[in-house]
Amino acid sequence: MGDRQIKPFYAVIFGGDGDLALRKIIPAFYHRFVDGQLTMPFQIVCISRSLADENAFKLNLTEFIEKSFKSTSQLPQIDEFLAHLTLLTIPTNNTTTFQGLKECVEAETSWQRVFYFSVPSSAFSEICTTLKAAKLLTESCKVVLEKPLGNSLQSSQEINTIISGAFKESQIFRIDHYLGKETVQNIMVLRFANHLFERAWNADNIESVQITVAEALGVEKRAGYYDKTGALLDMVQNHLLQILCLIAMEPPSNLNPDTVRNEKLKVLEALRPFNKNNLKGNITRGQYTRGEMSGEKVNSYLEDIEQYNSDTETFVALKVFIDNWRWKNTPFYLRTGKRMKKKYSDIVINFKTMPHSIFPDSKYPLKNKLIIRLQPDERIELVQLSKIPGPGGYRFKPISLKLDFVDTFKERMPDAYERLIIDVLRGNQTLFMRHDELEAAWRWIESINTNWRKQIPLDLYESGTWGPGDQVLDEGHEWQTK
Ligand code: BG6
Repeated sequence: MGDRQIKPFYAVIFGGDGDLALRKIIPAFYHRFVDGQLTMPFQIVCISRSLADENAFKLNLTEFIEKSFKSTSQLPQIDEFLAHLTLLTIPTNNTTTFQGLKECVEAETSWQRVFYFSVPSSAFSEICTTLKAAKLLTESCKVVLEKPLGNSLQSSQEINTIISGAFKESQIFRIDHYLGKETVQNIMVLRFANHLFERAWNADNIESVQITVAEALGVEKRAGYYDKTGALLDMVQNHLLQILCLIAMEPPSNLNPDTVRNEKLKVLEALRPFNKNNLKGNITRGQYTRGEMSGEKVNSYLEDIEQYNSDTETFVALKVFIDNWRWKNTPFYLRTGKRMKKKYSDIVINFKTMPHSIFPDSKYPLKNKLIIRLQPDERIELVQLSKIPGPGGYRFKPISLKLDFVDTFKERMPDAYERLIIDVLRGNQTLFMRHDELEAAWRWIESINTNWRKQIPLDLYESGTWGPGDQVLDEGHEWQTK
């Protein structure tokens, strides 16, 4: 499962001055540095196409790090950390322009090299070929790939062919940052370290599962990318399917990367495919219109992207089945959207009603619900019925047993990227997608993506609402948060 001891390293970030690098990747290195986990020699090389002024870059970066540092005090050890950073300008990719990079990472030949591709996947091929031609790849180097890896099964296969021409599978780290979130990792602990839940974790006891990833933000400054992508590819193909895998997979026999990934793969392969006959009623596509968020008027999606004929979805809800013994006929309801009422992600496990009621007057159905709140206000909540104290027969009220992470654990909740970069440096691939997992996810997504635009009309929803997801729910079901 990789080495516990992190070897000295060069982390070369392509797209090193991009939004993701500034907001997430470099601050993640900083936090690990301040927490004392990066005590070995290292250098972070940020590659930019156009920036040349290293001081201005570092000044700008410090502002981003400040935003990620949830304290008003001075940033500790910021100068020491920035001394580990180099800015390199590489306007085009060829062996001549890579000369500076070569000199930089060959200064210490024993250090491990991590190449982080934080650029659109259309650029992967050229970077890969140039790294290879410039003889920068070693047996122990690693490559980290940011999503989206293509926009179809075919394009993701093409990308994979290119990457695997330069790197072995054991060197490739495909990031899905949701897997780095503490609460997402805790799903495995909840299921496989607690006897109580795992015994009831199947179609005999569970009536349905809901997974919601709701965002309050709109498309922001990513119109170009988002309009070609939409919610299905941007969120469902990766984040929601990965959460679904962790909820639905069989217990792996150990935590070895391939053992865990084998179980996730089986879930993806058991997803019931869609076809032109079963799309209607099981999928909703929506797009946000004008509305109000926290008292402020906000634009419609079309106004945000300044194109008035786009039918790209910013919301999607689906009813999905996993055709295996454990989950036979259990609906999994998934939904995600932008500009919804508020930002939150959770998983709701709805248990079945008691087989027989000795309390015929209860106005509540006799059943339990387990809510796993992934973000924000991270918590686990078991909803159960309880008797209201007092005479006069049995009167019930649903109450919750709550485990609130913030109250229970005093530790800082690290950002998902902190865990993931440390795993890359250690060579632990458990939380990264293997090639066949990615392909299985794409294959299932294509069963939707090839037909749905023609068959499912776009449902417009007002910004600041919960969107049109009710249509996929069976009778008697409702989304947990409304
Ligand atoms: C990204 C998507 O992968 O995840 C974005 O491309 C989305 O569109 C983001 O906003 C959500 O991540 P988080 O961690 O804020 O829930």
